Amino acid sequence: MKGLILSGGKGTRLRPITFTSAKQLIPIANKPVLFYGIEALRDAGIKDIGIVVGDTKEEVRRAVGDGSDWNVSITYIEQAEPAGLAHAVLVSQGYLKDEPFVMYLGDNLILGGIKELVKEFKEVSPNCHILLSRVQNPNQFGVAELQNGRVVRLVEKPRDPRSDLALVGVYMFDSHIFEAVKNIKPSWRNELEITDAIQYLIDKGYVVHPHMVKGWWKDTGRLDDLLEANKMVLDTLDTRIDGLVDDESKVDFKVVIEKDAEVTKSTIRGPAIIGKGSKIINSFIGPFTSIADRVTIKESEVEHSIVLEGSSIMNIKGRIGDSLIGRDVEVSKSPLKPKAYRFMLGDYSKVGVL
Ligand code: DAU
Repeated sequence: MKGLILSGGKGTRLRPITFTSAKQLIPIANKPVLFYGIEALRDAGIKDIGIVVGDTKEEVRRAVGDGSDWNVSITYIEQAEPAGLAHAVLVSQGYLKDEPFVMYLGDNLILGGIKELVKEFKEVSPNCHILLSRVQNPNQFGVAELQNGRVVRLVEKPRDPRSDLALVGVYMFDSHIFEAVKNIKPSWRNELEITDAIQYLIDKGYVVHPHMVKGWWKDTGRLDDLLEANKMVLDTLDTRIDGLVDDESKVDFKVVIEKDAEVTKSTIRGPAIIGKGSKIINSFIGPFTSIADRVTIKESEVEHSIVLEGSSIMNIKGRIGDSLIGRDVEVSKSPLKPKAYRFMLGDYSKVGVL
C-alpha cells in the first residue's frame, strides 16, 4: 500500500503567512503539520509516500528531503495548478499505479494516527474507505449522508448540510478511483472534487465504507483551527528542560525548553514549548503557546499563540493572545515621537489593538 500526501494548494485562508510559506509547513508544537502526516503513514507501515506539490515545491522539498529522516521513501509529484483533490489523484496515477493507497491531506492532523484505520481497510477491503467526524460547521467541509450505516450522498461544502458528518482529510482507495476521477466534471469552484469522485463510486455500485473517527481530528487550514491543533498537541507533551532556566524563573506543567534556549526572570506556564536558541526575558509565556527557534521575547506576555522562527516581541504592555506571528517579525513598543501605533503590515495581515 502506498501513501499520497497532498501538499499543493494555495492556503488563501492563512494569508499573509502563506504568501511566503506553505501552509503545510506551519509548525504545530514546533513541528510542521506535514510531518505529522508523514509519521502517521509511516506508523501505519507505509514506506512509499508520494507528496503532491505546487508553487511551494522547493520549500516542501527542503523540509522533507528524501524521507530518510523517517525511514520512508518520498517521491515528489508536481501538480501544475491546484485544480482540486481529485485532480491531484489524477496526476499521481503514474506513481500510484494499481496499488491501493491512503490519501492524506497535508494540512490535516489526527491524534492517535491511522494505524487501526489502515488495518480495517485491509480487512474489509472496500473500494474506498472514508473517515467521518461530527462538526459544528459542516458547510465548510465535504458532508456525508448515511442511511442504515451506508453512505448514500456526499456533497462538498453544502449551503444546507443534510448532516453534521464531515469528511475527514484521510481517504483510502483502490485503483477504481482513477475511473472516477476521469469521469467527473469540475465543481462550481472549478475544482475536480474528491467528494464528487467518491459519489461517482457510490453511484456505480462500488463499495464505499464509512468509519466514524472517535478521536480528535482537525483541518488546520484556518487560524482558529491551527491554534486549537497547537493546543491539543502541546497537551500531549511531557516536560523536558534542555535549555537554561535561571533561579528567578518559574516553569510549570508540561513545558519543553529546547537546547540553547534561555529563560530569565520569567514564568512559563505550560503546556508550552520554547525552541532552540530562543530567549525569554522578564516575560510570561502562557498556556498553549509554541515559540519556535531563535525568538526573543522581552518584557512581554504571550499566550495561546504560535510565534515562528527569528521573531522578536519586546516591551509590549497588553497580553498577546490567540495569535500567529510569522518568521522574522518584530513587535515592539515604539520609542519615537509622536506617540503612535506604527505598522508595516503585509497584504491580508490582521491586527487587533487594545
Ligand atoms: O479537511 C477536510 C476537508 O478537506 C474535506 O472535508 C473536504 O471534503 C475536502 O474537499 C477538503 O476541503 P478543503 O477546502 O479544506 O481542502 P483544501 O483546499 O484546504 O486542500 C486540502 C489539502 O490538499 C491541502 O493540504 C492543500 C492540498 N491541495 C489542494 C488542492 C485544491 C493540493 O495538493 N492540490 C489541490 O489542487
